[in-house]
Amino acid sequence: MDTVQFFDTTLRDGEQSPGFSMNVEEKLRLARQLEQLGVDIIEAGFPIASRGDLEAVRAVAREIRSCGVAALARAKREDVDAALEALEPAPQPRLHVFLATSDLHLRYKLRTTREQALEAIRSMVRYGRQRCPEVEFSAEDASRSDVDFLCEALAAAADAGATILNIPDTVGYAVPEEYANLFYRVRERLGDAPGVTLSAHCHNDLGQAVANSLAAVRAGARQVECTINGIGERAGNASLEEIAVALAVRQASFGVRTNVRLEKIYGTSRLLSAITGVPVPPNKAVVGANAFAHEAGIHQDGIIKNPLTYEIISPEAVGVPSRQLVLGKHSGRNALQLRLRELGYETTKEELAECYRQAMALADQTKQVRDRDLLAIVHQVLRRRGAAAATLVQDAPAAT
Ligand code: KIV
Ligand code: ZN
Repeated sequence: MDTVQFFDTTLRDGEQSPGFSMNVEEKLRLARQLEQLGVDIIEAGFPIASRGDLEAVRAVAREIRSCGVAALARAKREDVDAALEALEPAPQPRLHVFLATSDLHLRYKLRTTREQALEAIRSMVRYGRQRCPEVEFSAEDASRSDVDFLCEALAAAADAGATILNIPDTVGYAVPEEYANLFYRVRERLGDAPGVTLSAHCHNDLGQAVANSLAAVRAGARQVECTINGIGERAGNASLEEIAVALAVRQASFGVRTNVRLEKIYGTSRLLSAITGVPVPPNKAVVGANAFAHEAGIHQDGIIKNPLTYEIISPEAVGVPSRQLVLGKHSGRNALQLRLRELGYETTKEELAECYRQAMALADQTKQVRDRDLLAIVHQVLRRRGAAAATLVQDAPAAT
């Protein structure tokens, strides 16, 4: 079975979006967690952007041992030199060179010609390849590029030594069939050269980033570029946790495996949220507080009888804490309040009393009250308070 490589760009594409900037220490903490999560490569930054970014990439490159570390560079000598300097301590360095291939970007942003672009790709990939064992080339705005020219640019990069060819949907414009077709067309034109990996990099402007990434995998992409919690420019990048879980849950359909340790997903998501101070939306797939909460009575009933009735993956499988609350005559109210706080909910005395009453009633029937039951109960109780008044504790500690 083929392996799909996970290229995590939380520390580069994610970090460069408003509200998500991280200092060196914070980048290092997240990088260590990403290594634990089992991503194949961490894109740690864009070293030419600032001395601070270069130092952060260098710190990650020095510390991370068991996965690759990438640094981004435009197809310019000074960018490539900065990226190489930052990557110097990495055991598995990857230079990531990019240049736009759409006429829109070439004409209006770069004010250059197709011929000059091809020359810059050839010379900078070749230059980088002489100094770094692995070079990735990204054709920025690939999904809005003329396909013939896109293929010419990718072939030029491969001839110059790039072994990973990334086909980004930079502005989140593509839809799944179209994006998959792009991969089929590139494969047809370039052939499946041994040692060359095609990569997907999707933005979420039309809410299609994960769907497009999965479509690309079906069409032969063997690397996906993504971020934790889907953070990134504008509407974000494809969410790592959603792609990883989709490929696992639907493995029979996709026929690929990954190195991602699913049980580390929830902790990683919470760590990013704690570092940046940006909460995960409750309805976010896989890691949102509601992702495994069941509120409707019929659903709760089904879940109690057999979780498979309404859950396609267990919360435990992605690391959502599955602590059971033992409620008895003498214990309970404080333990309940503590657990609710850990899950991110602050209640008034009356609300706590109502949660407790319902939890006890459930415990009478089922002997245990699980987190997912508690979430259902607390949501129902807080709904009465009115959504606007509900206090969601934003920085709830990562429960692992
Ligand atoms: O979205 C994009 O095109 C990028 C490239 C630099 C890979 O982030
Ligand atoms: Zn991007």
